[in-house]
Amino acid sequence: MKETILLKVDPVEPDLSKIHRAANLIKSGGLVAFPTETVYGLGADALNANAVVALFEAKKRPMDNPPIVHIGDLKDVNKLAAFVPSQIEDLIEEFWPGPLTLVFKRSDLVPAVTVAGLETIAVRMPKHEVALSLIRESGCPISAPSANLSGKPSPTTADHVLDDLNGRIDAILDGGPTQIGVESTVLDVTVDPPTVLRPGGTSVEALKKSLGRVRLHAHVEAEKEHESGTARSPGMKHKHYAPRAKLVLVEGPLSAVVEKVNELAGTYKAEGSRVGVLATDETASKYEVATVLSMGSRFNLETIARNLFASLRKFDSESIDVIIAESVPIDGLGLAVMNRLRKASGYNIVKV
Ligand code: TXA
Ligand code: MG
Repeated sequence: MKETILLKVDPVEPDLSKIHRAANLIKSGGLVAFPTETVYGLGADALNANAVVALFEAKKRPMDNPPIVHIGDLKDVNKLAAFVPSQIEDLIEEFWPGPLTLVFKRSDLVPAVTVAGLETIAVRMPKHEVALSLIRESGCPISAPSANLSGKPSPTTADHVLDDLNGRIDAILDGGPTQIGVESTVLDVTVDPPTVLRPGGTSVEALKKSLGRVRLHAHVEAEKEHESGTARSPGMKHKHYAPRAKLVLVEGPLSAVVEKVNELAGTYKAEGSRVGVLATDETASKYEVATVLSMGSRFNLETIARNLFASLRKFDSESIDVIIAESVPIDGLGLAVMNRLRKASGYNIVKV
């Protein structure tokens, strides 16, 4: 166990002495968690193979699942990517900094372990002053997966990071809760048409508007486990976002969903389980269980995305055994929310 230093910073105007301290840790091969606009990331110098190995170990992450490489300046993408198609240059202009990760053919700059031996690299420029100042002050691209133990819901506060990684990492820059709450959208631009590998903070609708044609990888809307051989993004085949509690997702028209959730809650309670319901503002009062958490209004998918992971972690902190979750519409950020809920359930989906 090492001591994890907590560095509290203003999210908009971070104290430069604290950024400097965190950057020195990165430069000397250490691990520093930091906020981005999506979720907290766990950073290591992407050019330092030992630091990246330590990053995988701290998270207990399988070595075949490469983290995203974060940059602090648009033009740094040209160092990491072998080449950037001109249509994608326009996309970068429009969406960076922001919650969009692009997968390119890679250059030889980073060591093999940083990309888990792949010929491609996932790059993004986050839209958060703390993240940007840390990257710039460190003077290197920063490999940063979400700062959770592998398989757990991603952290949206510094407390979530501490719950998972206290004593395993060198420091946390605490810039308060993150804005978007789900991870970035991962778009593979090595194929035509560009293909969404993971839905996230940038909506597919926005990408289509900009690119014309965009394909969704089958995993994006998957309602059951896919054969691991078909995984295009290594992360697809690993367990993800799962709270300790078992999660059952109920999909269908809202009134039927409410009815089914109540029925399932009754069944699990009768078995002696502690049941929690993951609901929305419009439905929260309709459930007769002790722990009902609302993610927000169904008419505001941004709020729902922001609260999703914190709610899953809250059920665990209240020792809930079974979470029964409502589904939400799959437009905008709803697609990312449903993708996370389906995975968190292990595809334990009840259709009504
Ligand atoms: O919002 C985010 O993206 C957060 C913050 C910290 O930036 N980061 C994040 O990183 O979610 P991570 O490592 O937890 O997820 C990265 C995803 C994984 O699904 C991984 O498999 C995929 O990106 N990925 C990384 N490199 C790839 C590559 N070369 N080709 C395809 N997918 C890749
Ligand atoms: Mg992750």
